[in-house]
Amino acid sequence: MACCMRCSKRMKICCGVTAAIVILLVVILVILIFTVFKQKDPTVTLQSVKVKEASLVVFPVEVINVSLGILLTVENPNYGSFSYHNSTAYLNYRGKLLATAPLHEDTLPARGSLNISTTLNFYADDIMKVLDLVADLVKGVINFTSTTTLEGRVKVLNLFKKKATSSSFCDISVFVHDKSVNSTCEIDVKL
Ligand SMILES: *[C@@H]1O[C@H](CO)[C@@H](O)[C@H](O)[C@H]1NC(C)=O
Ligand SMILES: *[C@@H]1O[C@H](CO)[C@@H](O)[C@H](O)[C@H]1NC(C)=O
Ligand SMILES: *[C@@H]1O[C@H](CO)[C@@H](O)[C@H](O)[C@H]1NC(C)=O
Ligand SMILES: *[C@@H]1O[C@H](CO)[C@@H](O)[C@H](O)[C@H]1NC(C)=O
Ligand SMILES: *[C@@H]1O[C@H](CO)[C@@H](O)[C@H](O)[C@H]1NC(C)=O
Repeated sequence: MACCMRCSKRMKICCGVTAAIVILLVVILVILIFTVFKQKDPTVTLQSVKVKEASLVVFPVEVINVSLGILLTVENPNYGSFSYHNSTAYLNYRGKLLATAPLHEDTLPARGSLNISTTLNFYADDIMKVLDLVADLVKGVINFTSTTTLEGRVKVLNLFKKKATSSSFCDISVFVHDKSVNSTCEIDVKL
């Protein structure tokens, strides 16, 4: 009798502790889902642009050879860091490839920022493309689109590691007169 009472008491305590642990786990899981695993889009800020090299060859072919050194700051609001491999960013103008930029392998830290320095190499080898650019320059707004695919690995709190591919597609408007840039991006992360 005494044994049984103790048993049931122990069971009650056991049940209570188990329930508390389950509730705690559920609470932790909910917090993780709403904070850690909920992806927010990183923000990208253009810090500086410098002309590295510019040349114009008119004969035998019209070629404008321009390289721009750019510095971007990417801020990551997520709890996961992202390490990516070497890649290339593509800048398109009126549906045609205008410039490429190599992206060196790096790590975007969790809840931190990363400075990316790269060179934008222009392929303005088509005279029509150049004339269109000049016309837009005069109008004051130049629209570009950019596409970048980064392959790498996401790591959350040293617990969760997974291969990931991040694809971004951006609409970029450059306002010539006030030297400002407006961009909207769609970022798609596949885990
Ligand atoms: C354009 O620049 C690239 C890299 O700097 C160089 O390899 C190429 O020869 C240049 N082309 C012309 C026509 O100047
Ligand atoms: C990434 O590119 C750099 C040069 O930009 C090169 O030194 C390095 O070996 C490359 N890494 C891989 C994994 O290809
Ligand atoms: C990135 O560059 C900006 C401007 O040059 C600088 O203020 C900032 O400290 C840099 N951030 C990192 C993480 O290196
Ligand atoms: C550039 O993009 C903006 C906004 O996306 C749009 O309103 C504008 O018409 C575009 N201009 C040209 C010349 O395509
Ligand atoms: C830049 O984009 C934002 C949001 O996409 C928009 O509200 C703003 O009017 C744009 N600025 C210009 C100068 O077009």
